[in-house]
Amino acid sequence: MEEHLTVGRVAELAGVTVRTLHHYDAIGLLHPSTRTAAGHRAYSADDVERLREVLAYRRLGFGLGEIADLVDDPATDAIAHLRRLRGLLLEQQDRAAAMVAAIDKELEARAMGIRTTPEEQLRVFGAQLYDAIGSAYPATRRTEPRIAARIWDALGDARTVLNVGAGTGSYEPPDRDVTAVEPSAVMREQRPAGAAPCVAAAAESLPFEDQSFDAAMAVSTVHHWPDPVAGLRELRRVARRVVVFTYDADHIAGRGQFWLTRDYLPEFANLLIGWPSLTDLTEAIGGRAEPVPVPWDCTDGFFEAYWRRPETYLDERVRRAVSVWTRVGPEAEQRAVSRLREDLSSGRWADRNRELAGLDAAELGLRLLVA
Ligand SMILES: C[S@@+](CC[C@H](N)C(=O)[O-])C[C@H]1O[C@@H](n2cnc3c(N)ncnc32)[C@H](O)[C@@H]1O
Repeated sequence: MEEHLTVGRVAELAGVTVRTLHHYDAIGLLHPSTRTAAGHRAYSADDVERLREVLAYRRLGFGLGEIADLVDDPATDAIAHLRRLRGLLLEQQDRAAAMVAAIDKELEARAMGIRTTPEEQLRVFGAQLYDAIGSAYPATRRTEPRIAARIWDALGDARTVLNVGAGTGSYEPPDRDVTAVEPSAVMREQRPAGAAPCVAAAAESLPFEDQSFDAAMAVSTVHHWPDPVAGLRELRRVARRVVVFTYDADHIAGRGQFWLTRDYLPEFANLLIGWPSLTDLTEAIGGRAEPVPVPWDCTDGFFEAYWRRPETYLDERVRRAVSVWTRVGPEAEQRAVSRLREDLSSGRWADRNRELAGLDAAELGLRLLVA
């Protein structure tokens, strides 16, 4: 027989009051599925699972009404809730990292006797990661023509294209009817004049009818979504064809690792914990994955771009345009950069990575998903 827990025991385990549980019962958020012989509330394993979701969303700041809608959604099972919660918590962590970076910057400025403007002081509060770091993006992030060619080829004959997580619009095809989606105000503001119209929304909840575009694309953005699988399903819902440029976490964490993460920034592995496998991602759109080698002279300054130009990572401007460096935190970043600097000047980096000199492109786990 299934074991049930009393209301007192559940309250004790969850660190909430019995009164809170009674309130959740009264408003229909969490009904214990049975009663003891004495008529007291008793919670089943499923009830406890639902309570865990309620409390986790509560801790993230959701209101009880919003939580009821979330936990009652029949399309979201326990695993999907866990993934979503994990994504939201990471987003919160990113925001905290961005605030630490902003505070460090202000401390530095004050140490030099410079007062930051009221706008600068307030910008970081409540901002998303890209609202905090996005202004550094255009310095080194631009269209890499060889990768663009692969993406545009995969779009086939699509005439209407939705670009989700569009940023400043780097990979938007010039010869199609493009609509962009971008949640960060800072990124939207930096879209060039004449760029495609841009809607403020997130991938997980696209404000479009089913099948309203010939194709949907997402470039270097899926790893920022709180719930990548839900977001990819949304792309699939609104478009007949889906093209996604992302990476294979197993490849990145496994053998043949990129020297930068292997030898200097092992903390990168923490960012991959719980990340959906390539199979999960391709299944979400019902497609296939193709490797995308990174050319040695890649013009889009993403994290892996400078695999054959290691000294480039010493440039603060280059690092600020890549969210990985903010996400690992200033301590890991400074340690990685000073070790790399030492190894470049001692010749140790060159000794260890001799084989790279002869390569024109490297397989670093980047993938094009096409459905
Ligand atoms: C690395 S940038 C890539 C921008 C652009 N696609 C490119 O290739 O240059 C990642 C973008 O994803 C956006 N983003 C973050 N969370 C998102 C979400 N839930 N849905 C859609 N876009 C999101 C960020 O605001 C940021 O502009």
